[in-house]
Amino acid sequence: MRGLAVYPGSFDPITNGHLDLIRRGSDLFDRLIVAVLRNTEKSYLFSVEDRLELLSESVVDLPNVEVAAFDGLLVDFARKRGAMRILRGIRALSDFELEFQMALMNRRLAPDLETVFLMPREEFTFLSSKLVREVARLGGPVDAFVPPPVARRLKQRGTP
Ligand code: PNS
Repeated sequence: MRGLAVYPGSFDPITNGHLDLIRRGSDLFDRLIVAVLRNTEKSYLFSVEDRLELLSESVVDLPNVEVAAFDGLLVDFARKRGAMRILRGIRALSDFELEFQMALMNRRLAPDLETVFLMPREEFTFLSSKLVREVARLGGPVDAFVPPPVARRLKQRGTP
């Protein structure tokens, strides 16, 4: 399965689960674009610029991985960049319903774009950006859950 794929998400912040999926994607495809959604309707812990920076620092050893921001429809961004695949991760059955809906909507919008699902290593199946944010906010250790640049940034922010 070669070619260019887009791995979209919020990445607020990138976790070791995301990174595991990025590594799998970079093995599977010639090139992978990790695409951060610019969503002005939601509030995030990290700005898009910070999230791009943290992603870039985390994938520095993967030469076929690019980090970019996008707004609007994912399928438009993928088409503009010439990608034929969308990559998403499924951790547990609870992820399936939303992922299924998004994949089928994207297929309706762009039948030529195929969504590919990969599973992260099982030790990351419980992990989410939301839980990492919560543990960090309450002063817990997050080093085992996120790449070192993210752990540093979360520590710098401190607890409220
Ligand atoms: O990390 P997330 O929050 O689960 O990522 C969700 C994301 C960014 C993949 C999804 O919200 C998305 O693709 N948004 C772009 C808007 C879009 O194309 N919507 C219609 C098809 S689902």
